[in-house]
Amino acid sequence: MSHPLEQLCDEALREIEAATDDQALETTRVKYLGRSGSISSWGEQMKALAKEEKPVVGKLLNEVRNALTAVIESRAQQFRSQKESSTLSKIDISLPGTPSGYSGYSGYYGYSTPDGYSGFGRTAEERASLHPLTQVLDRSIEIFRRMGFALADGPDIEDEWHCFDALNTPPEHPARNEQDTFYLPDARLLRTHTSTVQIRTMEAEPPPIRVIAPGAAYRRDELDATHSPQFHQIEGLYVDENVSVADLKGALEFFMHELFGAGTEVEFRPHYFPFTEPSLEVYVKSKALKGGEQWIEVAGSGVVHPAVFEQVNKRRGDKAYDPEKWSGYAFGLGMDRLAMILFDIPDIRLFSQNDLRFLRQFA
Ligand code: DAH
Repeated sequence: MSHPLEQLCDEALREIEAATDDQALETTRVKYLGRSGSISSWGEQMKALAKEEKPVVGKLLNEVRNALTAVIESRAQQFRSQKESSTLSKIDISLPGTPSGYSGYSGYYGYSTPDGYSGFGRTAEERASLHPLTQVLDRSIEIFRRMGFALADGPDIEDEWHCFDALNTPPEHPARNEQDTFYLPDARLLRTHTSTVQIRTMEAEPPPIRVIAPGAAYRRDELDATHSPQFHQIEGLYVDENVSVADLKGALEFFMHELFGAGTEVEFRPHYFPFTEPSLEVYVKSKALKGGEQWIEVAGSGVVHPAVFEQVNKRRGDKAYDPEKWSGYAFGLGMDRLAMILFDIPDIRLFSQNDLRFLRQFA
């Protein structure tokens, strides 16, 4: 026969199991473990026990008390999390937010833009969206990733060596002119192209290399519909054994078809860049283009000039980029151009004016 304490314990366990809410559970707890609960009262009864029985029953009493306390606590925890999740499930997370800091009528407020436009716009409840340039960047990165390109990065504020000398661009080259480049008082400059990241990547890593480097570039251009002193490029560099112009053309053609659609015509025209030989400009004519059948230049590219490898070797202090063994192609895509073509945007200034009427169209 089991001890009456054990029977009490079984009874308590059944009641705890049967409790359907925290109130019922609390009633059960008080009934058994409360100050005058049926288990607690055994503490009193102990006094009347025979001397040799006391330690046995005392131990049992402790065990029963601890076991029941633990079971009650875990059942209480169950009730708490049930309550929490039923509260959470009543919250509709897809509901638009309430405008904060504004308590006027129905969540609308008037605004005006510097060019005199004013109107009423939905603001705080409106969903934000990515800037069209960011959308093009995300899509481009996704395409290049599938082709095995990793992301690389470099600073916007550069030195002349990374921007020009290492890229085989001699001191008398017009791009280095004060009229063309933003120089800082300490002779550093705002990079005129993202090609600087080609050099930084090769300085840091031996071949093979397959990277893209998106980012801003700066030139002293007058701001007009097609020029901006700050614009964006996606640089690419691929160095391996036996890389040829055919690889370059195949990769860029694939990219253009993925971005603009399979029907997009791509053309390569001979050009000159100091850091590639041969050099090619890339043009596209997309059927998606509303402006009609017109070729638009979207990139510079070419096969990496051996002089660039030699400059990198000199800096690295080794022969890692031996031009006899390694070859490569590089390209610089005009990201603003890509976005203008993809979304049929006529004016590059729209990207930086922050006019909500423009930006909303890409939500
Ligand atoms: N850096 C050139 C520019 O901004 C574009 C370019 C041409 C990048 C050829 C390259 C390249 O990587 O190989 O006009």
